[in-house]
Amino acid sequence: MIVSIHFEDDQKTIQVEANQRLTKVCDEHPGSILFGCRNIACGTCLIEVVRGMENLAPVMEEEQILLDFLAPANPNVRLGCQCVVQGDICIRVAN
Ligand code: FES
Repeated sequence: MIVSIHFEDDQKTIQVEANQRLTKVCDEHPGSILFGCRNIACGTCLIEVVRGMENLAPVMEEEQILLDFLAPANPNVRLGCQCVVQGDICIRVAN
């Protein structure tokens, strides 16, 4: 299945095979989302999911702990380095 990832900051939409890591997609199509550690430690990859939160693989406990610390009041954030894209999404870098 092909899915669409829209990057708001870069004004571009990429179409990829489903169930890929967002890190892999961004490695192949560099843009505004930065990845420091890729391992739930730095928080540089914090993104806001504008549409399609249900199309990302669920949050695991370790990611949730860092999300609660970085953006406790925002239920629409994810760590980009932990996202596996299962359907169409629209994302942007979180402030
Ligand atoms: S790249 Fe460091 S937490 Fe995602």
